This record gives sequence, C-alpha cells and structure tokens, in this order.
Amino acid sequence: MNSRLTTHICRAAIAAALALAVGITAAQAQTADYRVIPLPTSIVADTTRTFVLTDGMTVAYDSSNPAISRNAQFLKQWVEEVAGVKLQLAPTDKKAAIQLTIRKAPAATTKKAKALADMTPQELSAYDISVGKRGLHITANTDEGLFRAAQTLRKSLLAAQEQTTAAATKAEGAAATVALPYATIHDEPRFEYRGAHLDVARHYFAVPVIKQYLDLMALHGCNQLHWHITEDQGWRFEVKALPELARKGSIREQTVIGHNTGVYDGQRYGGYYTQEECRELVNYAAERYINIIPEIDLPGHMMGALHVFPNLGCTGGPYPVWPHWGVSHEVLCAGNPETITFLKTVLGELCDVFPSKYIHIGGDECPKLRWKQCPKCQAKARELGLRDDGKHSIENQLQTWINHEMEAFLRERGRDMIGWDEVLEGGLTQSGIVMSWRGVKGGIEAAKEHHRVIMSPNSFCYIDYYQLKDNRRQPDAIGGYLPISKVYSFEPLQPDDIAADEQKYILGPQVNLWTEYIAFPQHLFYMLLPRLDAISEVQWSQPGQKDFDDFCRRLPRMKRLYDSLGINYCRDIE
Ligand code: ACM
Ligand code: ZN
Repeated sequence: MNSRLTTHICRAAIAAALALAVGITAAQAQTADYRVIPLPTSIVADTTRTFVLTDGMTVAYDSSNPAISRNAQFLKQWVEEVAGVKLQLAPTDKKAAIQLTIRKAPAATTKKAKALADMTPQELSAYDISVGKRGLHITANTDEGLFRAAQTLRKSLLAAQEQTTAAATKAEGAAATVALPYATIHDEPRFEYRGAHLDVARHYFAVPVIKQYLDLMALHGCNQLHWHITEDQGWRFEVKALPELARKGSIREQTVIGHNTGVYDGQRYGGYYTQEECRELVNYAAERYINIIPEIDLPGHMMGALHVFPNLGCTGGPYPVWPHWGVSHEVLCAGNPETITFLKTVLGELCDVFPSKYIHIGGDECPKLRWKQCPKCQAKARELGLRDDGKHSIENQLQTWINHEMEAFLRERGRDMIGWDEVLEGGLTQSGIVMSWRGVKGGIEAAKEHHRVIMSPNSFCYIDYYQLKDNRRQPDAIGGYLPISKVYSFEPLQPDDIAADEQKYILGPQVNLWTEYIAFPQHLFYMLLPRLDAISEVQWSQPGQKDFDDFCRRLPRMKRLYDSLGINYCRDIE
C-alpha cells in the first residue's frame, strides 16, 4: 500500500496519550514519523496506537555475527543521538523491545522463500519493520537490510520540532521516551546502483572528511562512492612500485585564483592517500554497505603523472602538475609501450587495494591533438590497422584500443570496467559499463546496444553547479544551474527512448561532485546537501511515490539532523 494513504499521524492526540501513559509533560513527548527521506516503499501505520520506547529497553540480535552486532550498536547509538533514549544491547533477551532478525535461508525443499543466491541486489538490501504492542521487530534477508532499517529508524525518531529533541528537554531524572505508531513497513531500493561521486584530485579532502561523506551517503541509502583520485591537478593514490608518482605528482606549485583569471595564489598545494588510508576507507565504507569505486582517469587528465614521468607524454615534456582548470592537450602517449606498462602497474595496485567489482578508467576529455602529431601514436595506429570508418576516427579507435587493454587486464582480476561516455566514440569494448555524463544520450545509446549504464547526466546530476538562481546568495561554483527540484525530477530509465525490456541495462543514477571551486569541507557539504536527499529518492524510492511538495515537507527533519551533526547544507530550495 502506498505510504501516503496511511500516515497522517495526529501528533497532538498521541502526545497527550503518551503523556498520561508515562507521566511526562506533553512538551517532552515525541512521536516517530516513518515518512523519511528516501521514502520507504510501503508504510501502513495505525495512527491511534503507539509503542513507547524508553531508556533501558533492550535490543536483541545474533551476537555471533559481527556485522549484525555492529548494526545493533549503530541502532543504539543513533536512537540515543536523535531521541535521547538509551537502549541496552541484550543479544539473547527474548522479551527485547527491539528484535533484529535475519530471515532463515529456506530449506532446499521449500519453494516459498527465495534463496539468497536467487535474490536481486534490491532484495538483498530490503527490510521490514513491524511495530506493535511488544515492540519493534526488524527483519531482513541480510545484515545490510538491518543496517538500512536502522537508518530509517534513526530518521523516523528524530523529533519534528526543535524543542522536543532528545534528552535536552526532558525533566531532570525523567526517562527519555519516544512513541512509535504501530506500523508495518516494507522497504527496498528501486535501483541496485545508487552512486555519489567525489573528486578529491582538484582539491584534496582528508580521510575524516571522506568518512563524513560516506556517512552521509549511508544515511541516504547510497551504496557506491565513485572516488576520482587522479587528475591534471594532482595524483592522489599511492603506488608502491612508483613511489615518486604520488609524492611528486600530488603537488602543484600554485593554484589559479577564480575561473582561470591568470592570477595565481603562489601556494604549494598537495596531499595524497596512502594505500593504508585507502584500505581504512574501504573498510569504513563496507561497514556502511558502500563500495568504493576508484577512478584512474586515463589517457587524458594525466598531468599529475606526466609531471613525474614526462617520457609517457607525446612531446616528452616537461609538464607541470596543472595549476589551473580545464582540459589539457597533454595526455598519455598511446604509441609508447611504457604507457601500457605504467597503467597496468597502477591498475594492478589499485585492484589490490580496492576490492570493488567496478573499476573506473575515466576516458573523458582526451584531446587528440598530440596523438595526431605524434609519430609513435601514428605508428601504433598503423600497426593496429586503424582506419577512419566515418563514424570513429583513427584517434578515437586508438583510445578504444587502450580501453581494450585495460578491460582485459581488469577482467583477468574479475573486475568490470566503467568509462565516461566518451568511451563510446571509438566503439565500446565488450563488457565496458558506460557512465553517461554529457546528458543521457550516451546512456541511451549504450543501453540499446545492451551495455550496462550508469546515468549521471550533467543536466540533472552535476551538483558542482549552482543550486540557486541568484549567485549573490551562494558561493562561487563552476557554473550551470541545478536546483534541487531539477535533481528530484530526474527519471533515469528514460522510458521515451529506452524500451521496457532494455531498461534493465540502466544500473542506476549517480550525482557527481567536482571540486575545482570547492576547497573546504563546509563548502563541499553545502553543495552536496540537500541535493543528495533529492537524488536519494530518485535512486531508492518508487517513481509512483515521487512528489516534490511532499519531499519538501519531509526535508526540514533531515536539515535538523544535519544541524545536530554540525554539517553544513544549503538552506534554500528552488
Ligand atoms: C566529466 O565531467 N568530465 C566526466
Ligand atoms: Zn604519442
């Protein structure tokens, strides 16, 4: 049943009843609201009856399972943070107010329930919450489902009004309580791929900031961090076999002020992630059910590497780590065999550090000027027998040849290659996944050719664009105008252009956050929030539930959560 039909909760009546029941004042009573962001698939709530969760109540769970134990701990922490209610972990308590249960795998003879191996990724993330007179029963197919349920409760229990939050308002010595309307909730995501991208190459963000970013992604049900870690302006991934690469390639001597004004700040700028830090982040993300997809952007956007290894460029350099923004003509030389050796060394270590099934090889914005003039590149094209076929230029095919090399290398390691939609220009490799960024055209073309697609068109998903019309009310941005209402309106399946039986090739949508003009975490989160809320409903919620006005009515509670976490966000909605 649609949740909109069922959850008009009469707060005043519940608060009064609760006050009588537990002997507290109406001002202290607080009632859960399950209509969170992203909106769950179905909420059937009985608004006349509530279960009152109180300090000291217990959470029961399978403590032999570390992931479930961690999720029980998350739940306890979040309930206390948002509602002031201190729960206790009591794994074996049969009378616990909150029971976390994983559905038993069906016996081989049972046809009723699906085995895990037969479930879709969405079913593996699903959960059910039932609230009744004995408390809350949370059931899921996997420990991930329990985590998603805990996040939903975290957002549900956050009081709607500032003055009724948490322990701050309760009388000295009084127990904290929160009333949960009886309900049956079922939830599972619409798309298996729910991405957010982060460019840490234009500006470097320290490990704790990446963890905050991951926490916010998890709060919104996102499960893929596309981590853009190499660029013209800095190489930020440690490669042990090439120690100079990050040490030198991560540092630019200065940074242009504003939009390529020609005036520079004269400050050295740098930073990179050691492999140990990357592994720490991979684990931190995994505990929040997020996979980190690293991107080594090749063969363009390589000035960071070319600075250290000028022999890998067509002209031989020298090349600075780029101090300004835009697209450089200097790219890796396709005709130099050392280029492929270099890339395999980098991707090899990348695969060792990041267990991700997907590895992103970039492929965007690689000008072909140097390749056209370079004897080595032209000799390679002849050796490969490349000819302009009217659709694909020789140089674009040369890029596809590099992509093939990378794809084969990655497939040997069991990984799938993702590339920006330029990878279509020289003819797509066999198993490559297309990330459509220059609008949805590339994504549509790829889906029709039965290639998997991630939709992140700049017109709906580039959250480095301005979010307000009036530039005087917001910090400097790269340009564009992407208000939250437009992000919310995005439909990734493009039903007008992609036939119903081909829509399965669209894995899901992703927002992209490039950081040319974003140097500080406060600014980063201002750009992210609350547009991440909007994309989360595109990624997670069912399309029939989408209603921007309703979304806006649910948003203030998320903003209060950001306030309580001390995280910056854009206050205005357009
Ligand atoms: C991109 O925005 N250059 C993928
Ligand atoms: Zn060359």
